[in-house]
Amino acid sequence: MSYTNIIRSSEVPAGEMRAVTIGKRKLMVVNVDGRFYVADRKCPHFGVNLCRGKLEGETVMCPLHRARFDLNSGEVLRDPHILFMDLNIRGGLRTYPVQIEGDKVMSDIGEA
Ligand code: FES
Repeated sequence: MSYTNIIRSSEVPAGEMRAVTIGKRKLMVVNVDGRFYVADRKCPHFGVNLCRGKLEGETVMCPLHRARFDLNSGEVLRDPHILFMDLNIRGGLRTYPVQIEGDKVMSDIGEA
């Protein structure tokens, strides 16, 4: 694995999300009670910025159609909902392994 420096941990207070762009990757960094998560920040449904969504425990809810994703696995925990329709998302949210080195949040995001 090859870890890249994503952000300083002090820049992401507990309970908050930050948008970070590394090369072509548009990422979000999430701090849940001192545990950090790195994931794509575009919702896999329509590409909305998930940093504008709602954090609840280790999950994030998309602000547009309220799909909910597990930040550990990227699994879809709740499908998008439009009016009275539940829709499906193919695949889930892409998440990346995280490693903390001092004040650095490092992640293996592959080719940026
Ligand atoms: S854009 Fe995120 S659930 Fe539709």
